[in-house]
Amino acid sequence: MGKRQTTIGLFDSGVGGLSVVRQLESYFTTRGELESYRFLYLGDTARLPYGNRPAQEIKTFVEEIVAWLTNKGADQIIMACNTSAALAYSVACAQSKVPVFDLIRPTAEHLAKSARGKQKIGVLATNATAKSQAFSKAIKEFTNDLEVVEIGCPELVGIVESGDIDSDATKKVLSKYASQLEKAGVDSVVLGCTHYPFLAGPLSSLLPENVQLVDPAALMVRSLSKNKTSPQLLDDSNEVEITKELYVTGPLADFAASAQACLGQAPGTIYGITVQDLQTARTEALQPALPVADISTALS
Ligand code: DGL
Repeated sequence: MGKRQTTIGLFDSGVGGLSVVRQLESYFTTRGELESYRFLYLGDTARLPYGNRPAQEIKTFVEEIVAWLTNKGADQIIMACNTSAALAYSVACAQSKVPVFDLIRPTAEHLAKSARGKQKIGVLATNATAKSQAFSKAIKEFTNDLEVVEIGCPELVGIVESGDIDSDATKKVLSKYASQLEKAGVDSVVLGCTHYPFLAGPLSSLLPENVQLVDPAALMVRSLSKNKTSPQLLDDSNEVEITKELYVTGPLADFAASAQACLGQAPGTIYGITVQDLQTARTEALQPALPVADISTALS
């Protein structure tokens, strides 16, 4: 019997979403959750960064990418970009024919349910995500016991994309945020942009030891296994087979170099697509289907 393959579509503006792929890969490999698993990843590097863009633009990008990933065979879509999820989660859900997952909601649920008494949570995110207060609003759905401080960090996405993870210059930028967080007296820090887990090492060295870093992707993968629409456990004894297809709208070599610097290894096969390809997918998806009478006229 052939193996059942599930295609998971993921997207981000750049290499950030690879921190999500990394968590999924390690989760599925250790748990043996799937027989065959295909990651279909889009990095919209030609339009990076998303975090300084207006909401309407992000919504349009999300519609384009959801349509494109669906055309490429995604069985489900993970918004591996928190800026997109903060501003356009409902747009993605409304447009998608397949289930859509984000990282913000599972993070909020986990923080609320695991909190012991009143706690203060720091969230580092892009300007757009911080301004939207998506994390604090999501947490408030579960509890009013947590105080949330959201801080926009506009330089960090560029730093990660440049691959300059551990330099003195990077530590200098991070120390500015570390002292803000320390002054605020936070108990834990959510890495609220998918690029930031790649800076977890240098950042944690600048924070007091008792402050915990939270990677939302690690919480999201746990919630996937609880969700009925996510991949089901098939057979523990079967080996997990994982393939990765990475598509980028910007230069392939730049993406390969950043990914290598972030992951410490080559990310997989990288293909180029254009922004126009994404725009066409959206236009086609939004086009109303021809009524039956019109089709027969068109064929006659
Ligand atoms: N990695 C993305 C996020 O989680 C987008 C960063 C950006 O392009 O500004 O928000």
